Amino acid sequence: MTMTTMKNALLGFAAVSLLGCAGGDNPGREYAPNMYHSVAYEPLSQITDEMAGEWVNALDNGRGEYFNSNKYNEFRMNMRTPPANTVKRNKFGWLPYRSKNVPKDSVDIVIGALKSPLDSSAVYAVEGKALYEVYCKHCHGANGTGDGKVADKYAGVANLKGDSYLAMSEGHIFHVITYGAGLMGAHGSQVTPEERWKIARYVKTLQKQK
Ligand code: HEC
Repeated sequence: MTMTTMKNALLGFAAVSLLGCAGGDNPGREYAPNMYHSVAYEPLSQITDEMAGEWVNALDNGRGEYFNSNKYNEFRMNMRTPPANTVKRNKFGWLPYRSKNVPKDSVDIVIGALKSPLDSSAVYAVEGKALYEVYCKHCHGANGTGDGKVADKYAGVANLKGDSYLAMSEGHIFHVITYGAGLMGAHGSQVTPEERWKIARYVKTLQKQK
């Protein structure tokens, strides 16, 4: 093969490949249709023509290979629309935290029955420590005594080992992380509920250390 014929062959191959790319909604020519069309139901695809892909159907089911919508469901989707007022749970099955933000002096009423969903495993305090160091340490300090770098400049950061905080429940800490308290801003948008519980566990551990 000379250099020129090789070039021509390459150009020819490129041209054929490009033919496969059609614009707009047209997917172009499919060279191995069985690889494009799922035989199983898909949640979103809506090929509603029952005879679509009849020519590649190896089964004797009287319809096309590509047909995969569900005529019994709304919008012919296989996925179901959740019933009205469905509340999304997270991957642990937890419901969203619904207690409202309240002034500091009535927080105990709100958090009264709030219990950590985490079991007593020591691993949570370890993970909580890493999170505390990212989200809390710069204010509350490595030991929780309210002497972080930010506290050098701004007075009023709580000493979490102070007497008035020692009896504070994990639920209380969870609530404070979610909404903030007084001078402390809310951290709920940055820290997931699971992370808040881990941090709360760590704060309780920290309070027991000298
Ligand atoms: C920007 C600095 C800052 C950061 C970051 C911060 N805090 Fe605070 N925190 C404060 C200040 C200031 C107070 C005192 C609020 C007041 O009494 O007005 C406080 C108070 C608290 C209290 C006591 C609230 C109460 O009911 O009296 C807890 C618990 C607490 N913080 C936990 C945390 C945890 C856990 C984190 C990390 C997720 C965190 N804080 C991050 C500044 C901060």
